[in-house]
Amino acid sequence: MNRLIVISNRVSPPMGDGPGNQGGLAVALSAALRESSGIWFGWSGEETEAFTGHINFQRSYGVTTATVDLEAQDVEEYYNGYANCTLWPLFHNRVDLAEFERGFAGGYERVNDRLAETVAPLIEESDLVWVHDYHLMLLGRNLRTRGVKNRIGFFLHIPWPPARLLESLPGHGELFDAMLDYDVIGFQSENWRESFIRYVQTHTDATIDQDGTITLGERRTRIVVCPIGIDFAEFHEAANGQTAREFYERMQRSANGRTMIVGVDRLDYSKGLPERFLGYERLLASRPDLHGQLFLLQIAPPSREQVRTYQQIRATLDSLSGRINGEFADAEWVPLRYINKGYPRDALAGIYRASRIGLITPLCDGMNLVAKEYVAAQDPDDPGVLILSQFAGAARQLTDALIVNPYSPDELAEAIDRALQMDLKERRDRWRSMMESIRNEDVRWWQACFTKALAGGQHEPLPED
Ligand code: UDP
Ligand code: G6P
Repeated sequence: MNRLIVISNRVSPPMGDGPGNQGGLAVALSAALRESSGIWFGWSGEETEAFTGHINFQRSYGVTTATVDLEAQDVEEYYNGYANCTLWPLFHNRVDLAEFERGFAGGYERVNDRLAETVAPLIEESDLVWVHDYHLMLLGRNLRTRGVKNRIGFFLHIPWPPARLLESLPGHGELFDAMLDYDVIGFQSENWRESFIRYVQTHTDATIDQDGTITLGERRTRIVVCPIGIDFAEFHEAANGQTAREFYERMQRSANGRTMIVGVDRLDYSKGLPERFLGYERLLASRPDLHGQLFLLQIAPPSREQVRTYQQIRATLDSLSGRINGEFADAEWVPLRYINKGYPRDALAGIYRASRIGLITPLCDGMNLVAKEYVAAQDPDDPGVLILSQFAGAARQLTDALIVNPYSPDELAEAIDRALQMDLKERRDRWRSMMESIRNEDVRWWQACFTKALAGGQHEPLPED
């Protein structure tokens, strides 16, 4: 078996359970890597005065991580800047929040190059190289210019934007061209693949084969769709373990007979939290009979706190949650429990299970693993109902969720009402069908799906190779 060199901005060694705000990429990769030999390379999350390229190797739970510190200016321009102020909003349909600073683009190029230079000597001849996410779109090109001839693949964990949005990014042509140095590019869902292909058709002279291979000059790049999954076996075990049970019982006691609705999201404007709160507020306003009967627990660990737009969404939610509770709470009942801290996943498993409704309503999301975890944690005899945004990648697989338009407060309120009334038979039928895809298309399936395509042939050399 070929060794796998995985490269991502965030590296999070599998330590049982993380702090809760590291996101789906780290959760999935630590699960996927446990069973394959190789190295997981990326940023340590630490800053240093001057970049040295010194690699810190660690081995934990069968995974070898190799991390480097970045300079403060790199973190500012590459991570806070280009990755999180330019690409993230643009790729999540929020061009209004995107900042297009040349300094950010320069920092992005510099860090992609530094990381390529540092990781290149670790790559052996038969290794497969797998680069992850929007922070590192240039990394494949930078490896090629350093003479790396291995098969190199790229997986995008977030949506690929429509061509008309991408056109607002200065230098989009160069960024895109660099991506064709990858042998394989993977997307979470057919929607994002289609947007990518449309960009190819409108902005390049490339040809596209039946099997999704793009040919431009001497370069050939295969495009695949491999939706990411959860570590089903591990999650199932966690959901039946002691911590999950303890949390389940604590939540039951604390709910005191009231129906619990749960949302779990990094505090990010793409997750649709204000819209979710407004939908819930609409329900409370129109249904006084439900007062005192239910509550929404929203877990929202802060994320990317240095970035202004994340500070703003936090302030918006502080005020909105205060307004809703101010309007509807009474001495014995608080309708909205809004919490800015993360929980380990085994605790979450118990919380999900205690919740009659999982309310997962992002405005735009590559996949959304929380939706899958919510379903996987349910009691088979008495499962809860998943309400899922039509704009989450997961909605393409979990078609038996109650699919909603997250922008519409009326639709959200109606969906919650419908979920509250759903009979046991319908809940079980929907849950069973969702469980099947979550079990079959788990994180190992995802890894196999991508690496099979990646291993599938020799890299076509660049003309100057
Ligand atoms: N998560 C966690 N604790 C929390 C909140 C989230 O462990 O308090 C985990 C969650 O269980 C899931 C991941 O973080 O595995 C979030 O992934 P998702 O795809 O839903 O969203 P992302 O954060 O990647 O946008
Ligand atoms: C999303 C992204 C990941 C990122 C995660 C957490 O899942 O696709 O690449 O790691 O969010 O964000 P952070 O900026 O904390 O790494």
